[in-house]
Amino acid sequence: MAADGTQPEADLAQPRADWTQSGSEFWAPQRNPVETSFAMQPTVYADENFFAAEQERLFGRGWVGVALTSEVAQPGRLLVRSIGGRSILLTRSEAGVRGFLNSCRHRGTELAEADCDIANTIRCPYHRWHYSADGQLVAAPLFDTVPRDDFDMADYGLIRVRTQTWGPVVFACLCEDTPPLGEWLGDLPQRMAAYRFDTWQPAGIEGASCTFDVAANWKLLAENFAEYYHLAWVHPELAKVSRVADHYRYQGPGMYCGQTTTPVSGDERDDWLKLPPAAGLDDSDAASGRFLALFPNVTLAVLPSHMFVMMLEPLSAGRTLEHCTFLFPPGPMTAGEPSAELRELFEITRRFWIEVNDEDIDICERAQRGISAGGAPPGPLAPRFEEPLNRFHKMTADLMTLPCVADLPVPAGDRPGSVDLYGGEPNPLPPAAERDAST
Ligand code: FES
Ligand SMILES: [Fe+2]
Repeated sequence: MAADGTQPEADLAQPRADWTQSGSEFWAPQRNPVETSFAMQPTVYADENFFAAEQERLFGRGWVGVALTSEVAQPGRLLVRSIGGRSILLTRSEAGVRGFLNSCRHRGTELAEADCDIANTIRCPYHRWHYSADGQLVAAPLFDTVPRDDFDMADYGLIRVRTQTWGPVVFACLCEDTPPLGEWLGDLPQRMAAYRFDTWQPAGIEGASCTFDVAANWKLLAENFAEYYHLAWVHPELAKVSRVADHYRYQGPGMYCGQTTTPVSGDERDDWLKLPPAAGLDDSDAASGRFLALFPNVTLAVLPSHMFVMMLEPLSAGRTLEHCTFLFPPGPMTAGEPSAELRELFEITRRFWIEVNDEDIDICERAQRGISAGGAPPGPLAPRFEEPLNRFHKMTADLMTLPCVADLPVPAGDRPGSVDLYGGEPNPLPPAAERDAST
């Protein structure tokens, strides 16, 4: 920090190893509490060398969202995904979702190029070694023509990748040292329990999923989702549904950033309230929008009647695929073919979301251009609205610098009942998890 309290000039010439050294000065402004913290250096968003290190240290060691559970709900389905620069396969075996490196145990060939149905057998196209859906090698054609004493098929199953599911998301992790997903997510499963996310489904309806190719770093998209400073200017229409003053932090212990809008306003526009709500929600959940940025790459925007899920797939420092899907609670949207009336209501909901998302994409691409081509030194965060970014930055710094991720410090939650940084008023309907914690 300079003597006048400002952030030092951005220094793109900093030694690159600094990004990954624990105790590094590079991350010092992000280690501060939000009241004295700063945005991250331009390098973090614009430098391909940083991106490569991030793929290895952050995406290679975190629990990364790779698919929706509904995409791999049935045995016989095979998904191909990318994580931390590695290609992985996802299957459903009798034991649940399984993950493997997409590489044959004979001579390493890519086993699948794209999502497909496999009739429960993964076949290598090269010499036709066969693997079961749980990764066991079950056939090696002609291999016994001249038998080898040292060859046992049991030794040549596919290389496992850790996978776990929570709610609608399949997560994968390439690192054995990373704490289990339950520890990573912290209190989130308990906090969101009443929604019963594992029962939410996509609807067989046009426009319920789409992918956007965005010219921005993945972190700009995640950060933009996690802060509510920009709403009034970037989303004038959204701000009528989800008023800035009704936004509060929604964060317990866990690797996520959260905010809530309570109530979801319906006085000027009610685009979010068209569809039938989930059953069994308490007063707080039924009146709120929950906006959760699961570190690093999944965002869930949860309304009482639907959820808009985004999964970010980084392609390079300045390019990200954004995979978006609408999910619905059990009810008329998921029980068979939705009626014409429901389709119309969904179309209103969808159009509203796409409009908001387009606005977010435009501003994030513009942020990327300014950061890449202008590269102004980072400025201070707004404590009332941007604390989740400080939390996001700390998680980024931890994953980039920790020598061993087994020592990962999962962020603590906000102080129950504290209103000083939430807003001028206490949250009118605190979520049950915070009410319980404060008694
Ligand atoms: S490389 Fe797969 S069977 Fe030979
Ligand atoms: Fe936005």
